Amino acid sequence: MKNKDINILAIETSCDETSMAVVRNGHEVIAMTVLTQMDTHADFGGVVPEIASRMHTENITMVLEDTLTKANMSLNDMDAIAVTYAPGLLGSLLVGIECAKMLSLVSEKPLIAVNHTMGHIFANAIEYDMTYPLLGLIVSGGHTDLVLMRSPYDISVLGKTKDDAIGEVYDKVARVLGLKYPGGPNVDRLAKEGEHTYSLPKPMNDDSFDFSFSGLKSAVINLVHNEEQRGNEIRRADLAASFQTVAVDELLRKVEYAFQKTGVKNMILAGGVSANRYLREKMADLAEKYQVTFHVPSFRYCTDNAAMIGAAAYPLYLKKKFSSFDLNAESSFDIEKYLAFMKNFDHEKTDD
Ligand code: KG4
Ligand code: ZN
Repeated sequence: MKNKDINILAIETSCDETSMAVVRNGHEVIAMTVLTQMDTHADFGGVVPEIASRMHTENITMVLEDTLTKANMSLNDMDAIAVTYAPGLLGSLLVGIECAKMLSLVSEKPLIAVNHTMGHIFANAIEYDMTYPLLGLIVSGGHTDLVLMRSPYDISVLGKTKDDAIGEVYDKVARVLGLKYPGGPNVDRLAKEGEHTYSLPKPMNDDSFDFSFSGLKSAVINLVHNEEQRGNEIRRADLAASFQTVAVDELLRKVEYAFQKTGVKNMILAGGVSANRYLREKMADLAEKYQVTFHVPSFRYCTDNAAMIGAAAYPLYLKKKFSSFDLNAESSFDIEKYLAFMKNFDHEKTDD
């Protein structure tokens, strides 16, 4: 007999996207709505937390109605309500959490707290079967983590950034190049028009799996300031291309080292920076060289969205890892602590 379908209504409001989705069995996106505030924040050069939470509050009911209408479903058709609780902007997270609690209360469906970073990882489960063990490279505005996953619950961190996250550096470089927020996609676009002609320092020449990008960031900032002081024109496209090549090469170098050390034959990319075309292409080439199966989400699932939260909630649903109404928002999180907590679930019976 076919198992009963599990429909999860997922909510994501951790930054500047108000998003909801209905996700069936952890991978089938029945409906998704993403309302981005990007244009509003672009005028300020970055996300303004107070404006973000106010806009989430104004829009969340509309996003809910839109999602359920598109899915042609009601709250009663849901098996659980999932919501991002960390990491992110506190005020923004709280709008989603309060909405999720209210929906859970009125529908009497369990509440599932989902970590945003896990959401980025499970964005891959929407379009592909995640085959374990796998290596995951999480590259976002807050993270640069290389993880080894043995199951959805058994994840170890091989390496992480010692300073800035790669997305943060993309955004900073965009700013010194005079590009608008959000910086990453704009640096990506400009880099395509240039060549790697500027000499920049290699981020971290060691044999660990860790990353460091602050030296590269400072080098780009100093180069721009020095050239400006000398009255020299900056070849912006070339500088964007030089930065992107050095930064991405460093990611590739560590992933190659992990391919060699672990012998793992499956690899996924996750997080906002995985939308980067140069990174996607280069990673695919590297995976091919090592005969590793490589997946990266479609663009719409790379950046913040609720479908990935619904996908990440599914393994928690199967283990009945439900939250109480005490659930609170957390702005940051310790990935290692979280993964140790997840690992306990691995040994528990799966309810499917
Ligand atoms: O995952 P995400 O949407 O939000 C966080 O959870 O942090 O990632 C946002 C980051 C930003 O730093 C943004 O500039 C970067 O992802 N990003 C990109 C690209 N698209 C988004 N960075 C480089 N190239 C891109 N195409
Ligand atoms: Zn994100």
